[in-house]
Amino acid sequence: MKLVRNPAARPLPADERARRTAAPAFGTVLTEHMVSARHDTTHGWHDARLEPYAPLSLDPATVGLHYGQVVFEGLKAFRTEDGSLAVFRPEDHARRLRESARRLMVPELPEELFLESVDALVAQDQAWLPDDPDMSLYLRPVVFASEATLALRPAHEYRYLLLACVTEGYFGRAQRPVRVWVTEEFSRAAPGGTGAAKCAGNYAAGLLAQETARAHGCDQVVWLDAAEHRWVEEMGGMNLFFVFGTGDDARLVTPPLGGTILPGVTRDSILRLAPELGLPVAEAPVSLEEWRKGCEAGEITEVFACGTAARVSPVNEVCTAETSWTVGEGTMGAVTARLSRELFAIQRGAVPDRRGWLR
Ligand code: COI
Repeated sequence: MKLVRNPAARPLPADERARRTAAPAFGTVLTEHMVSARHDTTHGWHDARLEPYAPLSLDPATVGLHYGQVVFEGLKAFRTEDGSLAVFRPEDHARRLRESARRLMVPELPEELFLESVDALVAQDQAWLPDDPDMSLYLRPVVFASEATLALRPAHEYRYLLLACVTEGYFGRAQRPVRVWVTEEFSRAAPGGTGAAKCAGNYAAGLLAQETARAHGCDQVVWLDAAEHRWVEEMGGMNLFFVFGTGDDARLVTPPLGGTILPGVTRDSILRLAPELGLPVAEAPVSLEEWRKGCEAGEITEVFACGTAARVSPVNEVCTAETSWTVGEGTMGAVTARLSRELFAIQRGAVPDRRGWLR
């Protein structure tokens, strides 16, 4: 399929662009263009175009609005040290989008179309990314059921959209430590459910727990397994890593994927990177009790969250309905800082891309 390019006739003046991107809150500063494509049962994927960012006109009976047949992704483009732009692991995001699509009975978007759309949008709107190492272009691919019907069945028509926004970190510019609320009241995902898919409903269903976290003065909610509310899973938007020990004895543990945890691309990057830095890493269950006792005994020295939007963010305080505790010194620990630095160096092309992660 040929992607038709139809950029805006008159681009935004550079000073207006600079004003908008000066201090962007996550998700608020969208660039001037988007990619759109359509799918139906007769033509498959078709009508792919790069076009000016604009509101959509939707039939009130659009399936995605009623039944949540919506899958999405989040990936980033960084300005590398030579001034060009590099997208981090787009093939892996394309694959995860196809996996999410299979779970929601959404047609799979071919990798070539995904990559072509990313290339086209990043090339078109690259001037939006300030020459500031703390900033990146966050790309948001989304596929939603666009057929107009209230029939409850997989839709016959879909739209793919790719948007870009200029962002610092999810938690702002500095990687400040985050305070987390462990919910023992709500569940994010159960075996056989949609926990491993990046689908819109997972995020909507997490908002009430996230608000409860905020009401308790916390930044994020931590989800436990649905059956026992005993095992730590993820943070809904980011995965978790535990650091046991210090110095040469430090080792990492992250909860294993098992259908209820989103397989994060940043999570996978850390799983691959850590052993190369001499840090053993295991995918093993960690219970809430082990987290608390491990911190109290000084065995768990650091905990960090990681995700495309969140980057690598230290967790310094854990709150539950009954108790709270501090992780390590309550600041960014040495292992977290090192992994964050190394990953960032790869993303910015400051070290050779030995793994083929940059496009
Ligand atoms: C991402 O890191 O891309 C996420 O999924 C978080 C986002 C929902 C804010």
